[in-house]
Amino acid sequence: MDKRRIVVTSALPYANGDIHLGHLVEYLQTDFWVRYQKLRGNECTYVCADDTHGTPIMIRAKKDGITPEELIAESYKRHTADFSEFQIKFDNFYSTNSPENLEFCKQIYAKLKENKALDFKSIPQLYCPTDKMFLPDRFVRGTCPKCGAEDQYGDSCEKCGATYNPTDLKDVHCSVCGERKLETRESEHIFFNLEQFKEYLRAWLKDHTAEDVANKLYEWFDEGTTLMPWDISRDAPYFGFEIPDHPGKYFYVWLDAPVGYMASLKNWCTKNNEDFDAWWNNPDAELYHFIGKDIVRFHCLFWPAMLHAADFKGPSQVFVHGFLTVNGKKMSKSRGTFISARTYLDCLDPAFLRYYYACKLNNTTDDVDLNLEDFVQRVNSDLVGKITNLASRGVQMLNKRLDDGMGVMDEEGLKLRDEFLSRAETIAAHYEARRFSQVPVEVCRLADLANEYFDAKQPWATIKTDPEATRVTLTNILNLFRIMAIYLSPILPVYAEKAAALFGEQSYTWEDINKKLENQKVAKYEYLASRVPPEKVEEMVEKSKAQAEAAAAAAEPAPAPAVPLKPEIEFPEFDKVDMRVALVESAGFVEGSTKLLQFTLDLGPLGKRNIFSGIRAYYPDPQVLVGKKLIVVANLKARKMRFGVSEGMILSAGSEENGFSVLTVMDDAQPGDLVS
Ligand code: 2FM
Ligand code: ZN
Repeated sequence: MDKRRIVVTSALPYANGDIHLGHLVEYLQTDFWVRYQKLRGNECTYVCADDTHGTPIMIRAKKDGITPEELIAESYKRHTADFSEFQIKFDNFYSTNSPENLEFCKQIYAKLKENKALDFKSIPQLYCPTDKMFLPDRFVRGTCPKCGAEDQYGDSCEKCGATYNPTDLKDVHCSVCGERKLETRESEHIFFNLEQFKEYLRAWLKDHTAEDVANKLYEWFDEGTTLMPWDISRDAPYFGFEIPDHPGKYFYVWLDAPVGYMASLKNWCTKNNEDFDAWWNNPDAELYHFIGKDIVRFHCLFWPAMLHAADFKGPSQVFVHGFLTVNGKKMSKSRGTFISARTYLDCLDPAFLRYYYACKLNNTTDDVDLNLEDFVQRVNSDLVGKITNLASRGVQMLNKRLDDGMGVMDEEGLKLRDEFLSRAETIAAHYEARRFSQVPVEVCRLADLANEYFDAKQPWATIKTDPEATRVTLTNILNLFRIMAIYLSPILPVYAEKAAALFGEQSYTWEDINKKLENQKVAKYEYLASRVPPEKVEEMVEKSKAQAEAAAAAAEPAPAPAVPLKPEIEFPEFDKVDMRVALVESAGFVEGSTKLLQFTLDLGPLGKRNIFSGIRAYYPDPQVLVGKKLIVVANLKARKMRFGVSEGMILSAGSEENGFSVLTVMDDAQPGDLVS
């Protein structure tokens, strides 16, 4: 069969967040599929990128006090490190903030305009005068006009599910700065006229995505809202690409994100001396997008319509998967099941998760459950107990007792090998159809056969009585193990590499299953996989919980000061205030005043002062103040009050709720000393 030419993508992760186990459901299954295609000798290029534009990224950078470019550079490092440690091998991992992406966006925009797929119209938008920006729905908060639930997003209520316009919210405010006086301003926006492509999409969906996905979209087609004009523009300030001939208007992030697939491929082509059109626009080349079910509208409506309208080839298939649940429930920060890739890597071997996800993944949109107990159990009993043990026992016995030497396979071994090879096409078909869960099922069935054989032959006993017969047994076992390692290699690439190294081989191709290993040495046994320590799983959950708590505490807004800060002053102004140490000679109530205390203060060389201070409520017995050294503003102009003249001001600290107390100074300070 001819080599296929295939481009594969996974959804682009946002550059303002870390990769978590939910994301990995997608990247791992894509990686399994790509590695399988490569193993079969197909030309397969897997591209992805960081999704770098949009308001959330702009605001996050602002909050962190860095530029969006710095934020995305930092994310890029974190994302690529996570992916590589999880053995996810992109041919290119790029950025949507790239010259190639800008170029494609411009090109597509020009085509859409030329082909009359765009409408321009003015629309009302909420505007925050404090942040000086138009507010996307996500950044507007208020009370749901339907059920009265407070603090809901600008487009829909999480409590009652109602959808509305941000302008319908009560008590509407900006979620960035809290501003309540939002304005409604008119602004011209650019819309992609989706309705125009209704019939094209109706036909397209039938052949390019799973039936249930297409049917779901068809239902929406008839509701009338799904194919509404799509707003592809945003007003400045916006972190993204400015729209040609529309200064101050930017492409909406969801316009340039999927174009990022093309940009990443183009960048790969440049680096590898390949022709972009021979990959993307070639009718014989295939293009597959792996995505989650939350972004179907973008990939199965806007994107194919946009590509069609801009005269580009569209995807061959969009593969849609479900969400991750942990222990049967939505990932939860408080339960510690919102686990980042990094936290997982700090606790556990990535191969375990690769294996477990493979056991759970198939080609439907059903959610995938990571049951942590089952995870430990499945990896330990199958991957380690059934499969890896064959290699570790086989190779170590050859190492220790038989000079590392394999012998020849006998008839019994060859028969088993035939059985193993007879499953190749079935396993291949499972990979091709993304029924990944069936691969470990098949391999474990084979491992059971190999273990039965191993137990029946009792090599641990025969090694003492008949070493050569034992060599044959182990040769059979290791040949069987090797076939399993090749079958599993798209799921467990590093594991397969280590297995290959045991037999002195390079990385495998699918055809290598047919090779027989006889009369050769094996290397010293090296760790392939060890059991999952259950306490490490617990540690991972506890760490995730602690991280979520710390993040929540950090996000808590600082309590608003009870008294607003006074306007800034320059130092010379401050320096005009002359503060001195004063000794309290006497302190007492003021007849006729509920607020004041009267003080006679000794300022040493500066003489005595009579001062009234409004702190009576906090000192029911003013005598306690006698003999204390306080701080007074000594050059405050004397004020004539109803009860006499006040010659300065005593400094005290506190708040209305908690009360005030005078500021005292250390005993060795002398009356009249300067305070600065
Ligand atoms: O939903 C998301 O996480 C988006 N960043 C996915 C973008 S995929 C593609 F369109 F770029
Ligand atoms: Zn604001």
